[in-house]
Amino acid sequence: MTQTLTIRRPDDWHLHLRDGDMLRAVLPYTARDFARAIIMPNLVPPVVTGNDARAYRDRIMAALPQGADFTPLMTLYLTENTDPEDVAAAHAEGLITAVKLYPAGATTNSASGVSSFDKVQPVLEKMAEIGLPLCTHGEVTDNDVDIFDREAVFIDRVLDPIRRAHPQLRVVMEHITTANAADYVRSAETGLAATITTHHLVINRNHILSGGIKPHYYCLPVAKRENHRIALRAAATSGDPRFFLGTDSAPHTDANKLQPCGCAGCFTAPNTLSILAEVFEQDNALDKLENFTSLNGPAFYGLPPNEATTTLQRTAPDTPAFIETPEGPVTVFDPMMDLHWSS
Ligand code: DOR
Ligand code: ZN
Repeated sequence: MTQTLTIRRPDDWHLHLRDGDMLRAVLPYTARDFARAIIMPNLVPPVVTGNDARAYRDRIMAALPQGADFTPLMTLYLTENTDPEDVAAAHAEGLITAVKLYPAGATTNSASGVSSFDKVQPVLEKMAEIGLPLCTHGEVTDNDVDIFDREAVFIDRVLDPIRRAHPQLRVVMEHITTANAADYVRSAETGLAATITTHHLVINRNHILSGGIKPHYYCLPVAKRENHRIALRAAATSGDPRFFLGTDSAPHTDANKLQPCGCAGCFTAPNTLSILAEVFEQDNALDKLENFTSLNGPAFYGLPPNEATTTLQRTAPDTPAFIETPEGPVTVFDPMMDLHWSS
């Protein structure tokens, strides 16, 4: 039996680091296992301008542990008032790697997101022209659309029209949760990719709702039926370059998760690599782990893969059940299975 597994150092193509005390508490876990991460801009207030991104990047760099090998890849939060020239200047300066589209009201801190897609056409046009990718939170927010259908409806009503209007625009469908989304990604020849989270490879909607409600498994997009989880595992473990890791590790204090209207998000940064190694081994695809964690993402973003390597050891990880932060404890995602690989 293989006892070690050496892969190029992974990157996380979708991550929430927050700010202040929470940033300082969670960043060391990501910096330990990942060389780079796409940093989500949904702070309060959001990271909207190039200047906001520069200031946030500097706060992240200041919060890094001594000697860490980690580079934050910044994003801007697309609003109906985003200035195409500010986006282009931030891109030209090398300050940002992508722009994030949140439909207004779709998730945590998305109130400043987009309601009228017509209003953001000039920004999308500019992004297509300069080759700056758009990352999408792919859910419609209409209350008349069932929450389990919101991703599939987003593809038809929002994403496909955007892609037809801007054929050169490079798009990452973030945290896909359905077979429909995986199929849609495969239907495109170029310019379209998807991130898949660790938790959506492990849980289906029963884990949230059956046998008592489990707030720590609630995230957005919400986990779907088992057939969708299986489709995501097939996509992730296939080696197909259009699918890569974006953990969507999203820390919330237990106090904010465990209440009548609890926050969405799973905190997976501390044990993501252990869980992924387990999942890929279960599916006889350990040889594809590096594609998913370390090769496909950089290839899509036009960046070199990391030169450094990570060696996983076949030994049970000692991940804590929760981490302490000055704001209170944050529960680490429990994959409900024994893990056999440590990073
Ligand atoms: O579960 C989620 N949590 N989904 C998101 O889209 C946002 C994230 C967060 O910021 O907490
Ligand atoms: Zn997210």
